[in-house]
Amino acid sequence: MALPRLLVLGTGGTIAGTARSRTGKAYAAGEVALEAMLGEVGALGLEAELVPRPVARIGSQDIGWREWDALHAEIARAEDDPEIAGVIVTHGTDTAEETAFLLDLTLPAGKPVVLVGAMRPSDAVGSDGMRNFANAVRVASDPDSAGRGVLVVMADTVFAAADVRKAATANVDAFRGFPRGPLARVTPSSLDWFAPAHRVGSPARYAWPEALPRVAILTAGACMDEKPVEALLGIGCAGIVLAGMGQGNAPRVVIEALAKAAANGVPVVRSARVDEGMVDRNVEVDDDAHGFVAARALGPAKARILLMVLIANGIRDAARIQAAFDGR
Ligand code: SIN
Repeated sequence: MALPRLLVLGTGGTIAGTARSRTGKAYAAGEVALEAMLGEVGALGLEAELVPRPVARIGSQDIGWREWDALHAEIARAEDDPEIAGVIVTHGTDTAEETAFLLDLTLPAGKPVVLVGAMRPSDAVGSDGMRNFANAVRVASDPDSAGRGVLVVMADTVFAAADVRKAATANVDAFRGFPRGPLARVTPSSLDWFAPAHRVGSPARYAWPEALPRVAILTAGACMDEKPVEALLGIGCAGIVLAGMGQGNAPRVVIEALAKAAANGVPVVRSARVDEGMVDRNVEVDDDAHGFVAARALGPAKARILLMVLIANGIRDAARIQAAFDGR
């Protein structure tokens, strides 16, 4: 039987990183070429044919429009290519949730698309890269992975792009899901889904834009004034995501400055700087009166991605933005 053909898009990250010493902490991301990495994977005897396509070799802190545009185009082509069964994107973990969510919002929930990274560089003692990659191959070649949107595979766990976030700086087990936890457990030889696919056949929710607007995250803190809001408006931010205290709160003067921005047509989304939990409408802040949007289950990083995509698609009205956050 022919092996499933998987397109592997390489962007760099720690999975392609090399350590200064095999036991130390210092390393450089994105040093190993994709072909070299797949050469090592060959020795694992995985049951898939891997087609490498390098997109970048960077730390994911530097990911931007050029790489996102290339990834989107490659995956959209792969969706239409009957020879390709699924797609793996090797990616740094720092911004994996942002890339995964952006692609999830703008691609159909068709073939399996899996982002995978590593917390330890490729040559470090106890590196997790090969294991995570072998797991990603398992997920991307399973027909039951289709119709679930973009997936992230880390530490034997499969997450949906809309839920996943990096919750620890350095642990191998660094990723969590909210509001849904993991969708599946995976090893190189097993894959156990906890629920059936729920987006089979659904089209892309938003058109791929020609550019993304400048949207900033403003983190609230005690003893803060309104000047940072004015500075963001001064550099032409098209939207602001508040990473607020508690359930998305901020000092009164900051809320007033943000309300002025919203009244002047700059969408404002309230999310929380707290690790986990919902930000609902009209809890301590009167969103109706201030013209704000509540981020609901999305943390600041993903709220920013959704707001950029909405604005780029011409959606600026608070009620429509709120509906998108409710339905994420
Ligand atoms: C990066 O995001 O490129 C560096 C960190 C990592 O991959 O874990």
